[in-house]
Amino acid sequence: MKILGIESSCDETAAAVVANGTDVLSNEIASQVEIHARYGGVVPEVASRQHILAVIPVIDKALKDAAVSWEDLDGIAVTVGPGLAGSLLVGASVAKALSAVKGIPLIGVNHLEAHLYANWLGENKPEFPLLCLIVSGGHSDLILMRGHGDYTVLGRTRDDAAGEAFDKTARILGLGYPGGPAIDKAAEGGDANIDLPHSWIKGTNDFSFSGVKTYLHKLNEDGKVDKDNIADLAASFQKAVVDVLVGKTIEAALQNDAKQILLSGGVASNRMLRRRMKEESHIPVLIPQPVFCTDNAAMVASCGYFRLKGGKTSALDVDVIPGLKLI
Ligand code: KG4
Ligand code: ZN
Repeated sequence: MKILGIESSCDETAAAVVANGTDVLSNEIASQVEIHARYGGVVPEVASRQHILAVIPVIDKALKDAAVSWEDLDGIAVTVGPGLAGSLLVGASVAKALSAVKGIPLIGVNHLEAHLYANWLGENKPEFPLLCLIVSGGHSDLILMRGHGDYTVLGRTRDDAAGEAFDKTARILGLGYPGGPAIDKAAEGGDANIDLPHSWIKGTNDFSFSGVKTYLHKLNEDGKVDKDNIADLAASFQKAVVDVLVGKTIEAALQNDAKQILLSGGVASNRMLRRRMKEESHIPVLIPQPVFCTDNAAMVASCGYFRLKGGKTSALDVDVIPGLKLI
């Protein structure tokens, strides 16, 4: 079964064709990162207009690269939330129109669920029950998954998401946008030798990342951030976040007898997080290739395949839900 995935929830316009939920036949991404960089963050109105310009060429390229025609497709999966309303609307409208005109089933997909399904695109396949850490720009969730569509949220962030903390801290340190990759790179040249606050909330699987960010903000206001300690601060911040993500995830996996730990979302492309989770866990760890951690449409197509197999399609009047939750 071949599914066309379409993703436009934030600032990447993406389309991909995936066979049987696992084999990526094409994966096309038009990134707007340079357009938004001058503003230091995503400007929603600009993002939706860019999606309109990019979406048809990106879909055409995905079909061409995969060497498939419309007749070969069994479903069109599209992200319907969470995300920016104006951005989501572009992908959803195009998917609905294509579904109606070509007579191909439509599958509305939750973006967070899609991030999780990026793990089905790798060589080693997930086994239930599994524990997934979803760490993106808007979420830091620990999810226990007992089967397809069977989710229990074990923990969430109480304030900033991990990616949000990376982005805001990069701004404080003057490292630019997007912040996650900038800190990852700056940390390479630094030592994690500065003791920063670790917010380990006892007796819960919840996270909190605003404390460490605020601490750095205060240091900056006090004039204690300069070019000589930026790399060390970046490395120490990264370590403070990774220590908590790795510790809490492994603890929750053990408590819930998970067979595997899965990582997903943009922050899962962080090199220290990837390395440390694998080194410190005795339970097998699956992490998608970096290109499938950040926003892409192959994960949407994979998620759509498993929903379609479970008999779940969407009506043509399906709406976008900017605040959509996993459960
Ligand atoms: O999943 P994603 O592409 O979009 C959302 O659904 O939010 O995640 C984007 C987030 C951003 O906050 C970005 O700074 C972060 O992922 N990110 C990283 C890295 N690459 C992207 N954070 C830390 N290290 C990275 N290498
Ligand atoms: Zn995302």
